[in-house]
Amino acid sequence: MTGIHWRNALNSIALASAIVALSFSGSAVARPHARSHAAPHGAVQAKIEYCQICHGESGAGFYGYYAIPRLAGQQPGYIENQLRDYASGLRHNPIMSGVARGVTPGMYGAIAAHFHSLNAAPLGGRSGGNVALGREIFANGLPESNVPACSACHGPDAHGARQIPRLAGQLPVYLVKTLSNWGRERGRQSAGGLSAIMVPTTHNLTAAQISAVAAYVGGLR
Ligand code: HEC
Ligand code: HEC
Repeated sequence: MTGIHWRNALNSIALASAIVALSFSGSAVARPHARSHAAPHGAVQAKIEYCQICHGESGAGFYGYYAIPRLAGQQPGYIENQLRDYASGLRHNPIMSGVARGVTPGMYGAIAAHFHSLNAAPLGGRSGGNVALGREIFANGLPESNVPACSACHGPDAHGARQIPRLAGQLPVYLVKTLSNWGRERGRQSAGGLSAIMVPTTHNLTAAQISAVAAYVGGLR
């Protein structure tokens, strides 16, 4: 282990602590909210039913042609940020960009609260990863590769907090795809954006390490 590696690892840890502090104090990293007037109840219900066609009635996610991610128990602040980023093009996905442009900002709060309230069992599914290695990376990171402990930000139980997403019970195939394509899908944010926080971590994980951590968190409740 060289000095430079240690310095980077320590920087990551300092960053992680800062993010956790910010997210729990509920300030600073918040993106500007365009929270306009609340939408009528019936319109929100209809929109939620539309989301459930793909994300599953219980919000557990769905294995179709694509792995459609779990929304059940997801942090509302994270859901709202993703809808805003898909709609603006900061996060790229051909399906969700179109879906998000059809949701008015006034509906974000109610839709996010609905999916946060669901508590479906994890769908599971295989990423082919080594669960024991995944548990180790999640809890302690890989200091020799400058990978911070995921638990420092995503929480010891992987439930996330505010704008930091829940990973527990997420479909492993979706997690592998997401961590392997971060720059392409979420690289449009400036260095100050929340998506930028994950860039060094996604660069420093190998494919085997990504599968391992996906297998571990995907099985958590
Ligand atoms: C036609 C299918 C479809 C519909 C309808 C749909 N989604 Fe999605 N959703 C997807 C897919 C596929 C992804 C994964 C996209 C990606 O990889 O970026 C996704 C991703 C998401 C994400 C990001 C999840 C994460 O963990 O980062 C959120 C949030 C989301 N959808 C919310 C919604 C909401 C709210 C609705 C209803 C207004 C909705 N979706 C309707 C297919 C759909
Ligand atoms: C410094 C804090 C921090 C650390 C450490 C961290 N994350 Fe994240 N992570 C975030 C933030 C913030 C987001 C949300 C980014 C956004 O909104 O685009 C995120 C998003 C993610 C997502 C996307 C979730 C989804 O539903 O699409 C995955 C997967 C993820 N992190 C996995 C990990 C793993 C695995 C590790 C450990 C190897 C880790 N993270 C370490 C802060 C962190």
